[in-house]
Amino acid sequence: MCGIVGYIGTKKAVPVLINGLLSLEYRGYDSAGIAVLENDLIKVVKDKGRVKNLQDNPEIDKILGNIGIAHTRWATHGEPSKVNSHPHLDNSGKFSVVHNGIIENYSILRQKLIDNGYKLLSETDTEVIPNLIHMNYNGNILEAVSKTVKELEGSFAIEVISPLHPDEIIIVKKDSPLVVGVGENENYIASDIPAILAYTSNFYFVGENEIGVIKDDSITFYDVNLNEIKKELKSIEWDAVSSEKNGYEDFMLKEIYEQPKAVRETIGQRMSSDKVKLGLDDVDFSKFNRMYIVACGTAMHAGLASKYAFEKFCKIPTEIDMASEFRYRDPLIDNQTLCIFISQSGETADTIAALKLAKEKGATTIAVVNVIDSSITRVADHTIYTHAGPEIAVASTKAYTCQVVLLNILAANIAELLGNTSDELNDFKQSILALPDKLKEVLDTDEIMKSYAEKNYMKKDLFFVGRGADYAVSLEGSLKLKEISYIHSDAYASGELKHGPIALIEKDTPIIGCATNPSIAAKTISNLEEAISRGGNALLVTNQEIHNDKISDIVTIPDIHPMLSPVLSVVPLQLFAYHIAKFKKLDVDKPRNLAKSVTVE
Ligand code: AGP
Repeated sequence: MCGIVGYIGTKKAVPVLINGLLSLEYRGYDSAGIAVLENDLIKVVKDKGRVKNLQDNPEIDKILGNIGIAHTRWATHGEPSKVNSHPHLDNSGKFSVVHNGIIENYSILRQKLIDNGYKLLSETDTEVIPNLIHMNYNGNILEAVSKTVKELEGSFAIEVISPLHPDEIIIVKKDSPLVVGVGENENYIASDIPAILAYTSNFYFVGENEIGVIKDDSITFYDVNLNEIKKELKSIEWDAVSSEKNGYEDFMLKEIYEQPKAVRETIGQRMSSDKVKLGLDDVDFSKFNRMYIVACGTAMHAGLASKYAFEKFCKIPTEIDMASEFRYRDPLIDNQTLCIFISQSGETADTIAALKLAKEKGATTIAVVNVIDSSITRVADHTIYTHAGPEIAVASTKAYTCQVVLLNILAANIAELLGNTSDELNDFKQSILALPDKLKEVLDTDEIMKSYAEKNYMKKDLFFVGRGADYAVSLEGSLKLKEISYIHSDAYASGELKHGPIALIEKDTPIIGCATNPSIAAKTISNLEEAISRGGNALLVTNQEIHNDKISDIVTIPDIHPMLSPVLSVVPLQLFAYHIAKFKKLDVDKPRNLAKSVTVE
């Protein structure tokens, strides 16, 4: 949560910082601020509200300096307000800090500072950092930062500027993302690549407990004890355009429409020949007798939707867990356990903690991640990347479809490595290759989903039902709707309706059924009819030929192997949530109370 940006070079810093913040708003958007070095002073402009407010603040245009740091906030400690906004200054006004993360021991540090005569003005955890730097400062800012971070517990990506050291920005990172973009006589810092992709494609990914001294013409990294370390400069292929709306009204709509391309790129060369290639041939999969797929939110739904292929083709019992539950339930893990962690951002705190626990207990770990070199990739034994490209909208769409596709490719790969040569597996692989074209077709459901949204956007409650993989998709459809439309909705395995939830159905309650598996579609339809008999108004997403005049809307999607249908059937549900939010005139890309990257527990 929170996004940070930094610039040092010959340009005016403010426009670079504001552009970076605008593209990082998906990480948090309740307040924003910048601090720029100018004439031996730190000029700070900050307030609650969106980056746009900051941009429109007349004070911002008066700032001409070339070195600055900036922040967009998702509140953890203290309400959104001017005083709680970043950047924060120490009491002497000589050190300014922006911070993404949480300082868990801030109360102890706060008391220590108060005991030493410091006054803390905000309710934030961050404010302790510039004051500790001041307290630890002895003429050497690098030593002061190093000493300070040794006192901090929690997660942090931090930038520090000071007029006492007017030609550098000090950065440090632990458990929160941070990249340095390399330019010519100028350098950039950001929480995420898209924020600075317009200026450079060469990046250093700051590692755990690494400190960087960023000048306009040099970048030097140190470990926390200030031993210099060499890092590899990486080139990133993403183009700046893919981080822009490109003619679409919202990032979410653009990302929904990008799904055929994203899935095609995720399949890439991995499935082009007879054998699946994921670079996992050295793993001895025959030793695993249990498998966990662990993730949060939409990524966890991708796991639920993909579990069937692991059990069917690999014959390994597979459990799906929410990362926030997994880590506290003492799961049965040993060296015969395979754990798969899914994350778009690669920075989700709950998922990272669950991954660390699995490793400690001896499991083999594979990460399925979208953001290159993110924290999870550095902890997992193996990483396979979805190639969804940057996903900016808070509500995840193309990352989900790519996760489901890649997990199914992984299941096929493990099955092959375990010696499965069945025709069914071969057919399954062919079906994966057909997905990009079928995804293009399924986007044609846009109009019908828009008209169903128009009929229902004023509703207070809505239900989604399905069985098996269709239930997993129902959960995702329901989450999408809640996230961006603020309409209450629930998803049920359709057979469960009659065990209680059907009591909630009354006249005109919308109920969306998903039925794509020929062996159980009829059962879901019967369950929908039970709801219709009690007044419900039903929409059915299906690839079966259905003749049923009680279901008011039937949305037909292309036929596919039942285990892959979540990749297609989720699309009408994404479009439905999108159009409902648009009819309600809501901010689709930045829903209230949420952030794209959830780096707190
Ligand atoms: C998806 O629409 C959500 N914004 C959220 O549930 C998300 O999937 C979850 O926080 C996990 O994020 P990750 O994939 O980056 O780990």
